[in-house]
Amino acid sequence: MPSERSFDPPVRRVPARLSAPDPGWTTRSDVVVIGSGIAGLTAALRLKDHVDKVLVVTKDVLAAGSTQWAQGGIAAALGEGDTPEEHELDTLVAGAGACDPEAVRILVNEGPEAVRELIALGTNFDHDADGLISLTREGGHHRDRIAHAGGDATGAEIQRALIEAVAAAPEIEVVQHALAVDLLLAEDGGVAGVTLHVMGEGQRDGVGAVHCRAVVLASGGLGQVFSQTTNPSVSTGDGMALALRAGATLRDLEFVQFHPTVMYLGADSHGQQPLISEAVRGEGAFLVDFEGDRLMKGVHPLEDLAPRDVVAKAIMKRMLETGQPHMWLDARHLGEAFWAKRFPTILATARSHGVDPVTDLIPVAPACHYASGGVRTDLHGRSGVPGLYATGEVACSGVHGANRLASNSLLEGLVFSRRIATVLPGELRPWADPVADQRPAGLVPGGVRTELQEVMTSKVGVLRTAAGLADATGLLDKLAGTPADAVDLASWETTNLLTISAALAAAAMLREETRGSHWREDFPERDDARWAGHFDTVFEDGSSVLTFRPEPASDGGAS
Ligand code: SIN
Repeated sequence: MPSERSFDPPVRRVPARLSAPDPGWTTRSDVVVIGSGIAGLTAALRLKDHVDKVLVVTKDVLAAGSTQWAQGGIAAALGEGDTPEEHELDTLVAGAGACDPEAVRILVNEGPEAVRELIALGTNFDHDADGLISLTREGGHHRDRIAHAGGDATGAEIQRALIEAVAAAPEIEVVQHALAVDLLLAEDGGVAGVTLHVMGEGQRDGVGAVHCRAVVLASGGLGQVFSQTTNPSVSTGDGMALALRAGATLRDLEFVQFHPTVMYLGADSHGQQPLISEAVRGEGAFLVDFEGDRLMKGVHPLEDLAPRDVVAKAIMKRMLETGQPHMWLDARHLGEAFWAKRFPTILATARSHGVDPVTDLIPVAPACHYASGGVRTDLHGRSGVPGLYATGEVACSGVHGANRLASNSLLEGLVFSRRIATVLPGELRPWADPVADQRPAGLVPGGVRTELQEVMTSKVGVLRTAAGLADATGLLDKLAGTPADAVDLASWETTNLLTISAALAAAAMLREETRGSHWREDFPERDDARWAGHFDTVFEDGSSVLTFRPEPASDGGAS
């Protein structure tokens, strides 16, 4: 068993709190939910009958987050012959030994019931000719167990149903266009409130303070740390950075999943890129190189439906061997009628970029897709900060390990938000005054965002080396010392991106092995003897400190 050890970070001077004007307004709510995807809205709906008031705050409009963009679907053992145990095994194997087995057991056992509740709420999943829910397969699953809606618009349908339910709930107040800047902490270090910056909501315009007794963080991931991502523009790691500054622990940040089949739009295309769902391979599409040779033959027994990290690595390897900027997905044999019915969104998007999947190969390359790590929580979503809970992509509940199994993310948000709601009302903190915050405030300029994203992509992306990671941390350290000349949304977001990038790059540098989505060219093998366990990051005296905590591999060394 490896030993526990702590490390000094290579990047210092990250702001201990964000510069912001004094609050111009205040309000109160028992609970503040930050984020409005499946995790946030499920938490709000589940809590509304147990507390006096729930305030949902979201940085853009309610449907602007990652849930809306989810294509493939939601995984649960709903099909005939399938069992939670089989789902559990697939999840543990994909997670490459780094899952929390108890969290996985909860996910797969509570999943089917949680999905049935989503249906009862009004979500319309696709059905087959016999009236049963249609289930498809994605990478790493040994069974058809992915429920989908609108063909490839699962997230949008779930988001619609949740928004309608929230709109019908007078106990829930929604504030849109509001960035959660920092938590307000009470004398005991627990939650007393949160500062928000509201962009144009009448009387609540500008920076204000919401006093509350609990905060549920459901603010999504960090995809915008990288130049190319499937994540929307709002995914700037705000929740993780805010939690870190407030004293929470971040875990497994180095495990960032790169989706293998993201449509390649050219080297100059930055920001959110079109996803070509794994479900397209689930329906029979396959990867080929520039010679037309099948890429996944002989690489893994599941071939094109191998776990996501295996497919992303195979694509990347062939790209490096051949010097090509992408590979190809061949789905022409699915035919026009099938494409139009099963994948209408992807078909329209590809065509809008000049590629017709019915007649053309689709150019694809890996791009950042999902943060498997995040705010470390227990099995009821509690972070280490009293009164702060986390759920969904912002959290690290332990279900994803080193590589999330396809379509387990919507399920995680659903299951763990329900669990938070079972304990939070009984744990509501007494109202407390926030203590004056003495920590030095800072910000880096919004203008450094592109430079940050480019170094993270080239040096901390799919393929990592010690030399590249040292270059990246050097640049991040330099950027951390660049003061902002404006206090605005771009600076707040970029400071959050920098805070998370610094911790992510540090963990990636320290983990000298290849495991799941963390791929080190200089340490190409998984090394349980040294690295079975987790990197935890906490904030101390203006910088992140990393501690490696050993834990036995949860897949028995299988993957
Ligand atoms: C996809 O549709 O390929 C993405 C599903 C997921 O990320 O779980």
